[in-house]
Amino acid sequence: MANEIRLDNLPRTVALEHDGEGRACFSYIDQRKLPEVLAFERTGQWRQVVDAIKTLAVRGAPVIGIAGAAALALWACNEGASRACSHGCDPAASRFLEELEAVVDEIVAARPTAVNLEWAVRRAAHRARALADEGAFPDEVADALFADAQRMEAEDEAVNRAIGAHGAQLVGPGSRLLTHCNAGSLATAFYGTALGVVYAAAERGLVERVYADETRPVGQGARLTAWELSRVGVPCTLICDNMAASLMAAGRVDAVLVGADRIAANGDTANKIGTYGVAVLARHHGIPFYVAAPTSTIDFSLADGSGIPIEERDPSEVLPYPLAGVDVWNPAFDVTPASLITAIVTERGVFAPGELR
Ligand code: MRU
Repeated sequence: MANEIRLDNLPRTVALEHDGEGRACFSYIDQRKLPEVLAFERTGQWRQVVDAIKTLAVRGAPVIGIAGAAALALWACNEGASRACSHGCDPAASRFLEELEAVVDEIVAARPTAVNLEWAVRRAAHRARALADEGAFPDEVADALFADAQRMEAEDEAVNRAIGAHGAQLVGPGSRLLTHCNAGSLATAFYGTALGVVYAAAERGLVERVYADETRPVGQGARLTAWELSRVGVPCTLICDNMAASLMAAGRVDAVLVGADRIAANGDTANKIGTYGVAVLARHHGIPFYVAAPTSTIDFSLADGSGIPIEERDPSEVLPYPLAGVDVWNPAFDVTPASLITAIVTERGVFAPGELR
């Protein structure tokens, strides 16, 4: 029998709108406050969005791409276009475009590993330049950036639902699935990638339970995945990261499903720190290991994962109070070699890691 899946219990993660005065504004769930409080923030300031990305208030590869495009739209609508037009609009928009380049660089630098951020923001900047070349005024370019960012938010859900439908075909009846970090609705506009596969499979009655790794040091599994699954009504068991091996050895995991922050052309995949270890464990125990991600997460410019930049975060995430003589190493991501990945699911279908397109 199909589980009763209550996706309407999940809020949309972000929204780009106009406020009562016609200014562009961006709303987002502050994920740092979950699971205690479901709090929404609203701002017209592009730098607040950049800060939200840096501090993990908004996190997860697909949604930081959307937030980055929205930050650029906030700058263009609320600052860039009005400044460019204050002394009479310049159709060549040269000053506007100069400022835009600096804003783009600042947004892209917020987080280096997930390629979605750079992909979304550079794509928007390219469109702005093309429109200006055609003679568009800065306020027209700003309106286009706003509409594009809104469209990206809407399209993300459709992409995730397609990933879910393809991925559900890999899930057998009564499956016990293990996931790491949060690749759920909160990491996207809505629905999620790895958890999108869980939702699609659960709607078909295929999921017995999801094991959520706690995901040290920031606890995305404990705070976000467990919260999400509980709201939707998918049975969830939370485990500490160091329990996955015993769980697999006990024969209690049928498949592993994770998201991705950047996938190289050969299928090597960067995802939350600890993913690589889970993949090694899965291989040792003969358990399939699946990656679910949109094609915007694939970086075809990198032949393999050795060129993926790995973000190192503040030591205080690992050790809240400094200890004399103790250093902390805090990489936020690791790279799982393609050889450990059974298949990669995108909105286009299910692929062997070396056969991405
Ligand atoms: O540091 P985070 O929380 O942004 O890391 C997120 C992850 O590693 C996710 O698994 C990944 O972005 C995929 S989200 C669909």
